[in-house]
Amino acid sequence: MSVSVFAPISIGNVSVGFDTLGLAVTPIDGTLVGDIVSIESLSTSASSQEDSQFVLAGSHADKLPSNKNENIVWRCLAAFNQALSKQSIDIQPVKITLEKNIPVSSGLGSSACSVVAGFVALNEFYNQPFDKMTLLKLMGALEAEISGSLHYDNVAPCYLGGLQLMLDDPEKITQTLPTFDDCYWVIAYPDIEVSTKAAREILPDSYDRKTLIQFGQNLAGFVDACYRKDKQQAFSLLKDVVAEPYRKKLLPNFESAQQTLKEYGCLATGISGSGPTLFAVCDNLETAEKSQQWLKQNYLRSDEGFVHICKVDNSGARKTN
Ligand code: HSE
Repeated sequence: MSVSVFAPISIGNVSVGFDTLGLAVTPIDGTLVGDIVSIESLSTSASSQEDSQFVLAGSHADKLPSNKNENIVWRCLAAFNQALSKQSIDIQPVKITLEKNIPVSSGLGSSACSVVAGFVALNEFYNQPFDKMTLLKLMGALEAEISGSLHYDNVAPCYLGGLQLMLDDPEKITQTLPTFDDCYWVIAYPDIEVSTKAAREILPDSYDRKTLIQFGQNLAGFVDACYRKDKQQAFSLLKDVVAEPYRKKLLPNFESAQQTLKEYGCLATGISGSGPTLFAVCDNLETAEKSQQWLKQNYLRSDEGFVHICKVDNSGARKTN
């Protein structure tokens, strides 16, 4: 018995919803950008985690610690086994393989991809003992351990797909919002490292009333426009007054990129999660391709950087076998 699950990248914050909005995306050329976790049963009767095996593979495996105890997918297994024990379900020894295909500290929800693929693969392997809400809480708890604060803006879209609005309600956690089907999301990862922790530390502890009002207006106006399918309103309000003013200096020539992409016809440009990935939204392929070319030539800092033209990934985590 074996099961493999793919989990897609996501754009955290989406400019107007700091720690509150997240969007799963996938390249239009069919490339699977995200992590894959596979679970295989081991033919031994032993049942503790120490009898399980961990394998690390994929194009970005070399950036992760080689000690399995420091790997988040191994920690997923520990948390999942603990949840099984609480339900008096027998633990089976498994071989768990993480195919790490995206860079860490990219702003694309890299750790969420591993966490989500890990928990969904385990849940499938055990014939779904846990419902969506239970799994989401397990994912959030592990993400919080890793990043130091509980925010679902990557795990929720990565798991459920689409545009997710996080709610301050532990019984609901998230709400799927409508999206614009004709929009392209161009993402550019320059290949510089920006740690989420460092990008959070440079933010102020408090904000003034004017900023608070702007934040509320932008987020509420964006959500309203999504429901009314008012693309013009949605993207004219896609402005980040919470993080971008402080984080833009961490990204290479972000302001000039933003200006150029606007001139090219992009509807909005922002920082994906805590950066350094930049995203730009446009509603025609020609603008998306022109923006992709410009970003490849001007935003990337090494051959390891990449630019993808994406659409919303409405599927979220999914089995690949
Ligand atoms: N909402 C988070 C932040 C995303 O901007 O710090 C990073 O995972």
